[in-house]
Amino acid sequence: MKSIKVGLLGIGTVGAGTFNVLKRNQEEITRRAGRGIEIAMVADLNVERAKELTNGTCVVVNDANVVVNNPDIDIVIELIGGYGIAKELVLKAIANGKHVVTANKALLATHGNEIFKAAQEKGVMVAFEAAVAGGIPIIKALREGLTANRIQWIAGIINGTTNFILSEMRDKGLDFDTVLKEAQRLGYAEADPTFDIEGVDAAHKATIMSAIAFGMPVQFDKAHVEGITKLEAVDIRYAEQLGYRIKLLGITKRTAKGIELRVHPTLIPSKRLIANVEGAMNAVLVHGDAVGATLYYGKGAGAEPTASAVIADLVDITRLATADPEHRVPYLAFQPHAMSDTPILPMAEITTSYYLRMQVADQPGVLADVTRILADATISIDAMLQKEPAEGEIQTDIIMLTHQTQEKNVIAAIAKIEALATVVGNVTKIRMEELS
Ligand code: NDP
Ligand code: HSE
Repeated sequence: MKSIKVGLLGIGTVGAGTFNVLKRNQEEITRRAGRGIEIAMVADLNVERAKELTNGTCVVVNDANVVVNNPDIDIVIELIGGYGIAKELVLKAIANGKHVVTANKALLATHGNEIFKAAQEKGVMVAFEAAVAGGIPIIKALREGLTANRIQWIAGIINGTTNFILSEMRDKGLDFDTVLKEAQRLGYAEADPTFDIEGVDAAHKATIMSAIAFGMPVQFDKAHVEGITKLEAVDIRYAEQLGYRIKLLGITKRTAKGIELRVHPTLIPSKRLIANVEGAMNAVLVHGDAVGATLYYGKGAGAEPTASAVIADLVDITRLATADPEHRVPYLAFQPHAMSDTPILPMAEITTSYYLRMQVADQPGVLADVTRILADATISIDAMLQKEPAEGEIQTDIIMLTHQTQEKNVIAAIAKIEALATVVGNVTKIRMEELS
């Protein structure tokens, strides 16, 4: 049978990984797919480097339009990134009747609804396993493996760069900027690394998982996004003393009132497996009503782990290319006419537990004032740590862990605590998840 012809847009970190893995494992991949998969064309701005990488095995051009307009190309792999030219090229490929594989979570979380609609109308597939958690087949697990379940919540370490930064800072005492540079050198970080450290990349991935889990359109604009740049080393240390680790988690949860969709640093009990996921590794916990909790772990970034997911999509499309569009697995798991309009909750309405750190004057009555404010706001305290003031200091840290409460109660209580004359500066608030 004739090989399926692939056009690769962008041969950077993931593009080169995809090219190399496909070449190295060609024979086994062909046996699995039932047809050869051949990268026939590559488009990249740096034509010289692309020619060097592909070594005369395919046509190399600098204009990606030449690839998406070529009638001989069956599948386009978009590995350029961003939502400018990438969006234009993906929509053009779809309009030209080509299947698309992409690792571009930014594009799908912001323009996925438009792209999936265009693909649906044209009867082509848009596959994006590599867009969430790199090499971990989490999209397939959510969309197919867990399809019997009513999914209740997902919580994941879904950004390798930030997990790498937090691990290296904690274990080696390295500073933030040094570790970020190393993450960039290793190919983990986004072209704009603020997407990683400010939680945007994790929110893109959480948005995609949320849509698949709950059968809703992608709604990145409703996600709460908080990164690790404001996290202080002192809180990481106190959390450890209380038996917790701080991780940047992407969380989406079904509640009676709507869907929670949020990314923020989170205290997790150290005994949980997910709390011990280190470096650029990713892990996603999915809780379904039938199966209970399931955990997916693996490399979440880097050339070949991500290529593994890109090629899995290529094989899926190759196997299904001839299937009737109505009978393919729907892009967001649910049939397009059966999407839900469940609202995504504003952050004030979410319910979780909290770590609160405040610096207070070391004098009688302070603790009573703080606990009275919390009690008035119906916030109950689960654990507390009060440090001795350092030599010569008259102020000390109080750390409190609360039971579950609504975010709006905590915000109101913090405002009152910060107004106390005995409390210095702002109260640090980090959300906690038991994940049990
Ligand atoms: P890179 O920046 O390494 O690669 C992008 C490539 O696209 C570069 O070679 C770039 O060329 C080329 N390019 C840019 N503009 C054009 C254009 N107009 N036409 C043709 N080629 C172009 O990015 P990554 O490989 O790291 O990421 C690619 C995608 O995969 C992104 O969406 C990213 O979010 C996603 N992803 C990345 C992961 C990773 O670990 N790196 C993991 C999971 C997903 P030049 O260098 O000359 O500008
Ligand atoms: N920048 C991303 C990360 C790449 O660090 O996880 C994988 O999506």
